[in-house]
Amino acid sequence: MLDGEQGEPVRQGMEIIVQLADFWEAPGLIPVRGVHMPGASVKTARRAGRKYIRWCADSGAWFVTTTTLNPGATDLTGIDVGVSQTTTDQQVEITESYKRMGAIECHTCTPYLVGNLPRFGEHVAWGESSAVVFSNSVLGARTNREGGPAALASALTGFTAGYGMHLKKNRMASIHVSIEYPLSDPSEFGAAGYCLAKQYPDALPVFTGLPEQCSMISMRALSAALASSGSISMFHAVGLTPEALTLEMATGNRKLEKLMIGEKELKETIAFLDRNDLSDVDSVFIGCPHMDFEEVMHLGKLLSGKKVSSNVALWLYAANSIWSSCERSGLNQVLRDSGAVLVSDTCPNITIFKEVIESKGFKSGATNSAKLAHYLPSWGLKTHFGSTEDCIEAAITGKWRV
Ligand code: F3S
Repeated sequence: MLDGEQGEPVRQGMEIIVQLADFWEAPGLIPVRGVHMPGASVKTARRAGRKYIRWCADSGAWFVTTTTLNPGATDLTGIDVGVSQTTTDQQVEITESYKRMGAIECHTCTPYLVGNLPRFGEHVAWGESSAVVFSNSVLGARTNREGGPAALASALTGFTAGYGMHLKKNRMASIHVSIEYPLSDPSEFGAAGYCLAKQYPDALPVFTGLPEQCSMISMRALSAALASSGSISMFHAVGLTPEALTLEMATGNRKLEKLMIGEKELKETIAFLDRNDLSDVDSVFIGCPHMDFEEVMHLGKLLSGKKVSSNVALWLYAANSIWSSCERSGLNQVLRDSGAVLVSDTCPNITIFKEVIESKGFKSGATNSAKLAHYLPSWGLKTHFGSTEDCIEAAITGKWRV
């Protein structure tokens, strides 16, 4: 590959992988089972990335492993999410280039819900921080948090540099986090993760005290929050995640510093994230990370027979294949009847949110996602943070916790 026998894009991809391996002093290269591409949006690829991806496709490059795409800047089915025609055109160019190389056009941060599903112990090269944490922790697959160029290089060559989270010795817990409050709503899982990562941004936590029946929805919320206030790539949860059947297994029998997160810490974190001083709400965002069918069903139940306020945009986010399932099952009609909009291919954080705010006039938003509550204020939206029920209530009344 380095000799250029498989073409220039592959040669450049292998050069990136080899340089990464040298830099991190990796013992070798590792074949990967799949790639999840973070640089799939106009916002993340930028002009240089867009041109480079197109050049790879024009050169006849072809991905050699299952490759899924992270959210892009707009909904490609035509739902108006407020971005400009220029952004839409640039997004189509990026998506088309990836498709020509064999990528699955899914534009989601939940690749494991749409066919890119590694099994325990398999090596992958994934970008998108929430998916990386979910992969390492819940699936037990192994990945570093890849940037766009490295992920593209892995898709072209089928290899990654074998350092970091690919090595068992780096997957041991570094702090014991005891959850001393019965977490239930996904927003509480997000708040607990946010609370920890704010104090220990580079930790590898092992949790005890999480509910025995922890849903995938809660695990996704926890994964996303750990990677927003910090740069955590993996967690263990005793009895729940595959590398933590016992506390000793996760710690390697070492005694670790212990952090307790109880009701006080949780309430303080929720108050920190709920930074909006306006009581009126004009936009509500649910589906960060993107929802599975079960989560959309739950929202359908909450919204059935109700009407979203005419002053509020209630936008729900899921992968396009989940959108199709909701459409075919009639669930999407229930949402439409209520005034909610199920959006696919994008999310508020990976779109050009400045354009959305300008075209839609949003001033005061709400979400049940700790990750979005962390990022949306920096894109110019005052943001409330609370439970899923709080958010639906706000969408119906136009007020936050009336
Ligand atoms: Fe996914 Fe966007 Fe949230 S990529 S994790 S929905 S910020």
